[in-house]
Amino acid sequence: MEERTNKIHEGKAKIIYATHDPNQVIMYFKDEATARNGEKKGTIQDKGIINNKISTYFFKLLKDRGVDNHYIGTPDARDMLVKKLEMIPLEVVVRNVFAGSLAARFGKEEGTPLSMPIVEFYYKCDELNDPIINRYHAIALGIATLTELNQIEHIAFSINSIFKEVLGAKNVDIIDFKTEFGRDEKGRVLLGDEISPDNCRFWDKDSKQRLDKDVFRHDLGSPEEAYQEILRRLTL
Ligand code: TMP
Repeated sequence: MEERTNKIHEGKAKIIYATHDPNQVIMYFKDEATARNGEKKGTIQDKGIINNKISTYFFKLLKDRGVDNHYIGTPDARDMLVKKLEMIPLEVVVRNVFAGSLAARFGKEEGTPLSMPIVEFYYKCDELNDPIINRYHAIALGIATLTELNQIEHIAFSINSIFKEVLGAKNVDIIDFKTEFGRDEKGRVLLGDEISPDNCRFWDKDSKQRLDKDVFRHDLGSPEEAYQEILRRLTL
């Protein structure tokens, strides 16, 4: 089993470690939580363990459904072994319902359905506050090629269809989610990062109860309980 060696990068929610295999890295999931680009800081107890479990669940599900991704294994409670990718600095957000920044941008009430799913690109850059960009910006800035953007969009919408079906059966609406992609050693675009309540909005279909990080962002109750509850529903 691969072991962590040198720290490569520390982000807000995860630390990336090298392993003895140059093509594999370990993602270590932390309990620290931030919102509004680090303006609000806190800890959600055992978030790292829960997010590792939830991401493991989603990556395995997606692989089973033909969406290849960086997942290799889960060697420890907070560790995920993944393929090393050259990450593309884009946050790829898919939305089914107005919520969060989209609801604010268009003056819509949270929960208003969209007539079709949409995809948005945000340029990952803390100093600029991750600005929303379009395909032209992404290509002109050399962030990704048109072919890569087409592949990314196709994969992002496939993930959305799978999530709608699988979560729907668990009485959960997938409101929106953020994914990140990278290039493997052959230059192939692959889904990376994590898929967890930190970067998805999960609402109970009936009560509209939030089962995600919005509980932390907007002080809506116990984030620990929300994270435990979505894990419970997924693995029921
Ligand atoms: P937003 O409504 O705040 O733009 O967020 C859309 C989705 O993307 C939501 O599920 C949360 C996720 N997200 C991240 O994972 N990281 C971020 O930095 C932001 C702004 C959103």
